[in-house]
Amino acid sequence: MKRKPIIAGNWKMYKTVSEALAFAQELKRAVDGIKEVEVVVCPPFTALYQVSEALRGTGIGVGAQDVYWVDEGAFTGEVSPKMLKDAGCSYVIIGHSERRQFFGEIDDNVNRKVKAVLESGLTPIMCVGERIEERESGITEKVIRTQTEAGLAGLAADQVAGMVIAYEPVWAIGTGKTASDADAQQVIGFIRGLVSDLFGADVAAKVRIQYGGSVKPQNAAGLMAQQDIDGALVGGASLDVPNFSGIVKAAA
Ligand code: G3P
Repeated sequence: MKRKPIIAGNWKMYKTVSEALAFAQELKRAVDGIKEVEVVVCPPFTALYQVSEALRGTGIGVGAQDVYWVDEGAFTGEVSPKMLKDAGCSYVIIGHSERRQFFGEIDDNVNRKVKAVLESGLTPIMCVGERIEERESGITEKVIRTQTEAGLAGLAADQVAGMVIAYEPVWAIGTGKTASDADAQQVIGFIRGLVSDLFGADVAAKVRIQYGGSVKPQNAAGLMAQQDIDGALVGGASLDVPNFSGIVKAAA
C-alpha cells in the first residue's frame, strides 16, 4: 500500500497573524491542484485559528507546535488538545528537539502528549533525533530506539498506524547540513523496523515517517525518493511560499 507523503512546515516562533494570513493566501494558490501530497502548516499558537479559517476547505492542514496533555485545568501558560482542535488544528508536533533541548521536554511527557492528542482525534507528529555527539559515538540507533519506544509506549496498533513520526537529526536542524539520502533512509528504515517489532508489519507499512533537517527544494526530491521516507518536516524553508511549495512539488 502506498503511503501519501506529508510535507509539514514548522514555522517555529516566526510570523505575526497578518504575516501568517498573507502566507496562507499565497500558499493556497501555489499548491492548488496538488492532490498526491498532504500539505500542513504549523504556525505559532497565536495564528492557528485565523490560518485554519483561511485554509478551510482547501485540503491544507493546520498543526500546532506543542500541547499539554489534559483538556482543561489550572495550568498557566498551557494549551490543550481540545483547544487546538477547536482552533482548527488537525496535527500537533510533539517532542521537537528544540522543546527537548530548551524547555525540558522528556520522553515520558512526549508519550503523554501523543496519547492525549490521539484521544482527541488529532494526529501527532512525534519527533525523534540524535545529537551530533551521539552520532559520532555510534549510538544513533540506541538513541532513536529509546525515544521511539518511549514515545509510543502503551499505544494501540491502530493509533500508531495513523500517526506521523518525524526523524530530525539534531545536527541537521537549521545548520544547512542535511543528512544524506542514504543516512536519512537508513535511520528511517530502522524506525520502521522498530514499529514493526512493536506493533506488527501492517502498522509499520502504514505509519508515515518524515525526514526533517535543512530540507530545501534542491534536496527534497532525493530524500523523498527513498523507500521509507514519507515526506518532510520543514523549518526554515517553510517560511516562504516559493521554497515550501517547491518542496511540496518535489514530493508529488
Ligand atoms: O521541525 C523542522 C525543523 O526542526 C527543521 O528545521 O530549518 O533545518 O528545516 P530546518
